[in-house]
Amino acid sequence: MTCLRSVVVGCGSALPARCVTNDELAKTVETSDEWIVQRTGIRQRYLSDASETTSVLGTRAAQAALDDAGLAAADIDLVICATSTPDHTFPSTATQIQAGLGMTGGVAFDLQAVCAGFVYAVTTADKFLVTGSARRALVVGAETFSRLLDWEDRTTCVLFGDGAGAVVLEAREGEGTSADRGVLTSSLRSDGRHREKLYVDGGPGSTGTTGHLRMTGKEVFRFAVGSVTDVIDDAFRASGTNADDLDWFVPHQANRRIIEASADKLGIARDKVVLTVDRHGNTSAASIPLALDVARRDGRIKDGDLVMIEAIGGGFTWGAALIRW
Ligand code: ACO
Repeated sequence: MTCLRSVVVGCGSALPARCVTNDELAKTVETSDEWIVQRTGIRQRYLSDASETTSVLGTRAAQAALDDAGLAAADIDLVICATSTPDHTFPSTATQIQAGLGMTGGVAFDLQAVCAGFVYAVTTADKFLVTGSARRALVVGAETFSRLLDWEDRTTCVLFGDGAGAVVLEAREGEGTSADRGVLTSSLRSDGRHREKLYVDGGPGSTGTTGHLRMTGKEVFRFAVGSVTDVIDDAFRASGTNADDLDWFVPHQANRRIIEASADKLGIARDKVVLTVDRHGNTSAASIPLALDVARRDGRIKDGDLVMIEAIGGGFTWGAALIRW
């Protein structure tokens, strides 16, 4: 039976100009390269200056994705930006990306699911495309988490970085089987009881300030490894595929130990795991599209490959999507 599928036809990314190594960070924060690498796998991260806002990075990534797809902004009728660090409370960062691209048509909105934002955004765009509500979507993950960090808190400030990534999804006919190109299935979950484990201690409706990121690292670690594999199992079950069928596992890049423990638990071979946390740090909703862009441009991800994306974020929110590239 034929059906519509959301096929990835382009991807792109953008990083701030300034790269900060662990050694450079250790000059102002009481930490060391050895501690950070051993606990997280992070070696460096990119930190934005005042001019490199979330929408500026997001627009650069979106333009790169359009160029990669050989499309113009006018070909897009949906822009979804996953972010927890919007330039302003409103208007949405997505509308600023839309304007930055020179788009005057279509619909644009932000989606907030913290580090799971990109998986949520791909899933949402897919619903628009497979129902015929849109024809081509730009799905962007863009963040400037450096603005949310308490630079006096070494337990959190060493973990994060800034950046943006984007994909173009296009509605195309498929056969309705797992051999189709496009988003084959996705599974999302959330559970708001976990707020205290990972949150920002401010906001427009509470303190009237932006606030700082607060995290109980051990509890996040435990949940990330222990519980989020349910959405991946859902995706395998719904598509009739398994870990052996995967070409690439591209999880949210929070921590090397979380990623490797999750892959081991799922029976996914380590050489199928795309790892970029060493060079980008944790860029929240931007981490998956940044990693996809790295693996696509270095020749690892090829058309027809089966790719699982997966993430967990504050809330908690979590999800997975299985995509045939
Ligand atoms: N540099 C040096 N020492 C540090 C640092 C640092 N940056 N941060 C903490 N320490 C110290 C602590 O003070 C503590 O010292 P003590 O034993 O004298 O008290 C010691 O290191 C161990 O601290 P723990 O918090 O127990 O370290 P742990 O092994 O749990 O590692 C970490 C901390 C890396 C945060 C880990 O818990 C983790 O990876 N958690 C997952 C959280 C995560 O990745 N979050 C990302 C955001 S959430 C998301 O993206 C889904």
